[in-house]
Amino acid sequence: VIDIRKLYGETGHFTYDPGFTSTGSCESKITFIDGDKGVLLYRGYPIEQLAEKSDFMEVCYLLVYGELPDRGELDKFKYRITYHTMIHEQINYFFRGFRRDSHPMAIMCGVVGALSAFYHDSTDISDPVHRFVASTRLIAKMPTIAATAYRYSMGMPFAYPRNDLSFSENFLYMMFSNPCEEYVVNPVLARAMDRILILHADHEQNASTSTVRIAGSSGANPFACIAAGIASLWGPAHGGANEAVLSMLEHIGTKDHIPEYIARAKDKNDPFRLMGFGHRVYKNFDPRARVMRQAAHDVLDELGVRDDPLLDLAMELERIALEDDYFVSKKLYPNVDFYSGIIFKAMGIPTSMFTVLFAVARTVGWVAQWNEMIEDPMQKIGRPRQLFTGSGPRDYVDIAARG
Ligand code: ACO
Repeated sequence: VIDIRKLYGETGHFTYDPGFTSTGSCESKITFIDGDKGVLLYRGYPIEQLAEKSDFMEVCYLLVYGELPDRGELDKFKYRITYHTMIHEQINYFFRGFRRDSHPMAIMCGVVGALSAFYHDSTDISDPVHRFVASTRLIAKMPTIAATAYRYSMGMPFAYPRNDLSFSENFLYMMFSNPCEEYVVNPVLARAMDRILILHADHEQNASTSTVRIAGSSGANPFACIAAGIASLWGPAHGGANEAVLSMLEHIGTKDHIPEYIARAKDKNDPFRLMGFGHRVYKNFDPRARVMRQAAHDVLDELGVRDDPLLDLAMELERIALEDDYFVSKKLYPNVDFYSGIIFKAMGIPTSMFTVLFAVARTVGWVAQWNEMIEDPMQKIGRPRQLFTGSGPRDYVDIAARG
C-alpha cells in the first residue's frame, strides 16, 4: 500500500477520529454535560431545576443571552418573539407545493431554508442587530411552520398564531384548534409541552448542532444553517429516534414479543437496536429522561390513557431492559426520546411530527450556538481532514482500451 501523503511530500499530523468521539471543535459557554455523572447544565443551571421552575421563554433568553432575565427583560423578549410569530403569507404557497403525504421534516427542511428568500435583511450576518432579528424570527416562527406542516398534511385550514397565549399554549392551539369550535388549552398538556421544549433546547455539540456550526462557519445565512441542522436531526440515530421508538413498539406488537426483540438487540449479527436506549455521552442515565419519565406519567394520568396497549408495552419494555444484564453492563438506559415518543403519542400527535417538535425546541440551541460561533474571534471555517485509503496515482486509460 502506497502512503499517498508521503508520496506527495505532505508532512504534519492530524488526528483520525471517526465520529469525533474525542475531538473538541469549539469553545462554548452554553451547555455543560457530564455523561458519567448524568449532569446537564444550561449556562450553569441544572436541567432539573429549569424543567421544574422555569418556562421555555425564560430558558430561550438564558441560552441566547447567558443570564436569566429580570421581569422587564423577559417581558421585552416575549414581546419580540410574539411580534415575529407570523410567517409571510407567500410562505403558505410554499407549503401547498408539497404532496399532502410529505414527511413534515421534509417540509421543515424546505420551508426553513426558504425563509432566507423572505427576510433578506437577516441574511447579512455581519451586523449584530440583523443577527438578533434573525435569531428571534427563527425561534418565533418555528412553531408556526411546524403546526402549518401538520395542518397541511391533515388537510386542515392553516391556523394563525395567538399571541395572547404562552409559547407552548400557542403551539398546541396552532396544532389542534378547529375553526368550528372553541379550543381550550389543557394546562397539564401545555406544561408538559413546555418541559419537553426546555429539555430539548440544547445539548452542546451533537450532530445537528455541529452541522449548524459547520454550515455557519462558511458565512452561510442563519436560515440555511438551521435548515441544515433540521436535516441532520431527522436521522434515526439522532432526533428521529423518538419516531423510531414508536415504529419499533408497533413492530414488537405485544408484550410476549419483547424477549425476542431484546435478544435481537443483543445479537451482534443483527443490526437491530432498541430505539430510545443508549446515548453517546450519557453512560449513566440521561438526566432529561428522568424529568421526561415523570412528565410522561403526568400526561398519561391527566389523559387517562393508562390502558393504551402501546404505552403499556413501552413501560414493560423499559422495565425488562432496565433489569437485563446486557443493557445494564453496557449502560444502555432509556434516553429522552424514549419518553418523548410516549408523551407525544398520548397527546395524539402523529408519529411523523415527533422529530418536528424536537426541531422546534432545538432551534433556540442552534441559534445560541450559531451566534456564539459567529462572535468567536477564534472561529475558522470548519474543515476536517481525512485518512485517504483510495488508489495511488495512475494514468488515465482511454475507454476503448479498458477492461
Ligand atoms: N440497543 C442495543 N445495543 C446498543 C444500543 C441499543 N439501542 N445502543 C448501543 N448499543 C451497543 C452497541 O451495539 C455497542 O455494543 P459493542 O460494544 O458490543 O459493540 C455498544 O452498545 C456501544 O454502542 P455505540 O454505537 O458504540 O455507541 P454510540 O455512543 O456510538 O451510540 C447511540 C449512541 C447512537 C445513541 C446508540 O446508543 C443508538 O443507536 N441508540 C438507539 C438510537 C437512539 O435512541 N438515539 C437517540 C439518541 S438521544 C438523542 O439524539 C436526543
